[in-house]
Amino acid sequence: MTAHAFPAHRGVMFYRGLGHVFPVYRGIMFYRCLDCDAEHGTEDLLYTCPCCGGVLLLEDRRFPELKKKGGAYWRDLFDSRAAAKRPALRGIFRFYEITAPVLEEEDILYLGEGNTPLIEASPALRSLVGRAFAYKNDGQNPSASFKDRGMACAFSYLRAAARQRGWDEVLTVCASTGDTSAAAALYAAYAGGPITSAVLLPQGKVTPQQLSQPLGSGARVLELPGVFDDCMKVVEFLAARYRVALLNSKNSWRILGQESYAFEVAQALDWRVDKVCVFVPVGNAGNITAVLHGFLKLHELGVIDALPRIFGVQSQHADPVYRYYAAPAGEREFRPVQVTASVAQAAMIGNPVSFPRVKALAERYRAVAGERAFQVLRVAEQAIMDGMLSANRHGHTVCTQGGECLAGLRAAVAAGLVDEDESAVLDSTAHALKFMDFQNLYFDDAFPPEYGVKADQALVNAPELLLSPEERKGLDESAFVRESALRIARRLGLTETTGGKC
Ligand code: F0G
Repeated sequence: MTAHAFPAHRGVMFYRGLGHVFPVYRGIMFYRCLDCDAEHGTEDLLYTCPCCGGVLLLEDRRFPELKKKGGAYWRDLFDSRAAAKRPALRGIFRFYEITAPVLEEEDILYLGEGNTPLIEASPALRSLVGRAFAYKNDGQNPSASFKDRGMACAFSYLRAAARQRGWDEVLTVCASTGDTSAAAALYAAYAGGPITSAVLLPQGKVTPQQLSQPLGSGARVLELPGVFDDCMKVVEFLAARYRVALLNSKNSWRILGQESYAFEVAQALDWRVDKVCVFVPVGNAGNITAVLHGFLKLHELGVIDALPRIFGVQSQHADPVYRYYAAPAGEREFRPVQVTASVAQAAMIGNPVSFPRVKALAERYRAVAGERAFQVLRVAEQAIMDGMLSANRHGHTVCTQGGECLAGLRAAVAAGLVDEDESAVLDSTAHALKFMDFQNLYFDDAFPPEYGVKADQALVNAPELLLSPEERKGLDESAFVRESALRIARRLGLTETTGGKC
């Protein structure tokens, strides 16, 4: 049985009447250059404008027709589609018409991405921070980061292109701080056929868990000394000269898929986001591009009647976007920075390729919703680690970038930037487990000095050995159980009961 046979067969046999039919609407997608406004067809996979080298976004020429239906139509459709049984509509393509409405059902790749939970901060954490907020757990995607949203779209497009044009070889490449590579390798491994994957990583600058992911998925894993920005330049050079499909967020199909994050936030809040502040960690700036574009689309369609406020968050050790917006309006000039060691390692990027997109979209966003609607904050490494650990002590599962968002919210509250009647949504872009080595460094208070992070003992935890192997050797089973239980009772201060006898 082929991978395609199962859904198609089941689609006919079982799904009729249960879920939604696959949408009949088809758009006319084209690339728009954000610099010179040129438009280009989607026959070729473009990363930059052939006219001026500017960055691109994908648009649908028929979008004005979608607008005519009115916001209520789309809210009802997306809400009812939340119960769809067809795999192709269960993930990011719940929002098919405003995502990539040129893909056919047979090409859509669904590995369980999207539809991630929005978890309210525990009451104790909320009172610690002083505002109501929730984490959107994008670590609960199949490769444990938000990147799967974009890959589902980019790989669906590649499958369509390969099928329609008879390509027999599609080598996907990306540079990565660890999560793009994990996601790309996973989707390539599933797609199979002509699609293969090679990933380029800065040696020693992805976590062991992240490194294990493309290895496990069978990708070619290539490493270079240096940081992400170096690897990015290499894959850009490669993509300009060789037949490869670049999967970094320069690829606009990925941005389209990542817009689903904004759509899901709005939907989870019942399409009312006017008093909401969305906090997003910024690295290569693809995610914040997608969040801005996604909310703007919903607003244009009338699905939401006001935009939420967007706060980008960067570490002091990788802060080029913060620096740009911190300068007075007339004096802003984008300058890449040389990054230094950061616990928000996945966002440790000094020259984000999507910065021009952010600039263009932030302008549009502010034109609709005012200056306060888009801001960028900078936080200390210490605050990022404390943020991650504080969140997780309160029942969350956030990564260091999720910690960065909490540090951002705390800084924003302290600076009076978040009103009392506002609440926040924080993006935990990956699962905590990918970043356990940073937790371990913190608990051992062993961060190398360049990070500038010290352990707050109130957040430290460590396992306690109850018996040494030598002590255990001298005990038979019942003595072992009794002695261990006694030691536990003593350490935990337990009170003995009468034993529950009749
Ligand atoms: N959080 C995580 C967990 C990430 O992996 C990344 C980026 C970001 C935040 C920043 O998002 O780049 O869209 O601004 N990771 C990329 C990668 C660069 O290669 O995995 P961004």
